[in-house]
Amino acid sequence: MSESGKNTEAKAVLQSLESAYITPAIKQARERQDEIMIRRFQGKPYAIADIGCGTGHHGLIFGEGCRLYHGFEISQDIAEVARARWQQQGLDNFEIFLGDVSQMRLDDDFYDLVICMYFTPGNFRDFSEDLSIYDNAYLDNNPVFIKIFSSFYKAMKPGGLMFLTVYKDLPVTEAAQYDFYEKTGQHVVTRPGSRFVATAEHFWSVRWTRASMLSNLAGCGITEVSVKFHDLNEIAWLIEISK
Ligand SMILES: C[S@@+](CC[C@H](N)C(=O)[O-])C[C@H]1O[C@@H](n2cnc3c(N)ncnc32)[C@H](O)[C@@H]1O
Repeated sequence: MSESGKNTEAKAVLQSLESAYITPAIKQARERQDEIMIRRFQGKPYAIADIGCGTGHHGLIFGEGCRLYHGFEISQDIAEVARARWQQQGLDNFEIFLGDVSQMRLDDDFYDLVICMYFTPGNFRDFSEDLSIYDNAYLDNNPVFIKIFSSFYKAMKPGGLMFLTVYKDLPVTEAAQYDFYEKTGQHVVTRPGSRFVATAEHFWSVRWTRASMLSNLAGCGITEVSVKFHDLNEIAWLIEISK
C-alpha cells in the first residue's frame, strides 16, 4: 500500500480513538479489558511493551509505578498525542518506538508484560490494496501477525505474560464493527460475512475463531497450554499467553 494509503488509515484510526461515539459492545469490551489489566498489573514494577500504543491510553494507566514503558506506534501523529499525554502526566520512564512494529529489533528476555489491546492484533497484515490476498489460508497463518508476536514472545522474560484483545468471529461482532467504523466517518468496502472488515480509508480489522488464533500462535511457537481465552463479552476475548 502507498504511503498515502497508510496515512489515510492512520487518520481514520486517530478519528476513531478520539471520537465521542463508541459502539456499546465495543465500549464494554474495552472497559472489561481494562478492569482485568488494572486489577492484575497497575503499580507493578514491570518492564512493559505496548504494541500499537495509539494515543497513550494504557501508558496513562500503567506508566506510573512500572519500571519502564515502551510504546510501539506506526503513526507519527498518533505517537505525538501519546507522548504529550505521558509527559503531561509527568512520566519519565517511557520511550516511543516509531515505525512498523513488524520491523522492530528487540532484546530477548527483556519484558515482564507485553500488551496489544483494543483489537490491535487484528490490524496487522501485509499492506495491500488487493483484498483478495486475505483469504482463509492467509488469516489462519498471517505472516505479519506471526512475525510480530514471535519476536515479542522471544522478547518476554521467562515467566512473562502477553495479553491480546481480539474480536470473536460472529455476526454480532461484524455488526458492531460496521456501526463503529461508519459512525466514526469510515466507509466499509468488504462484503457482509467476510472474516475481516476493510474500509475505503484503508483501515483493516479481522475477527478470530479460537482455531485461527491458536493456529497463528502455533506459528509463533506458542502452544495451546500457554494460552487462556478470557471472555470479555459476546464480541471479544482477552487472550493471555504465558512464557
Ligand atoms: C485500535 S488502535 C489501539 C490503540 C491503543 N492500543 C488503545 O488501546 O487505545 C491500534 C493502534 O496500532 C497502531 N498500529 C497499527 N498497525 C501498526 C504497525 N504495523 N506498527 C505499529 N503500530 C501499528 C495504529 O496506528 C493504532 O494507533
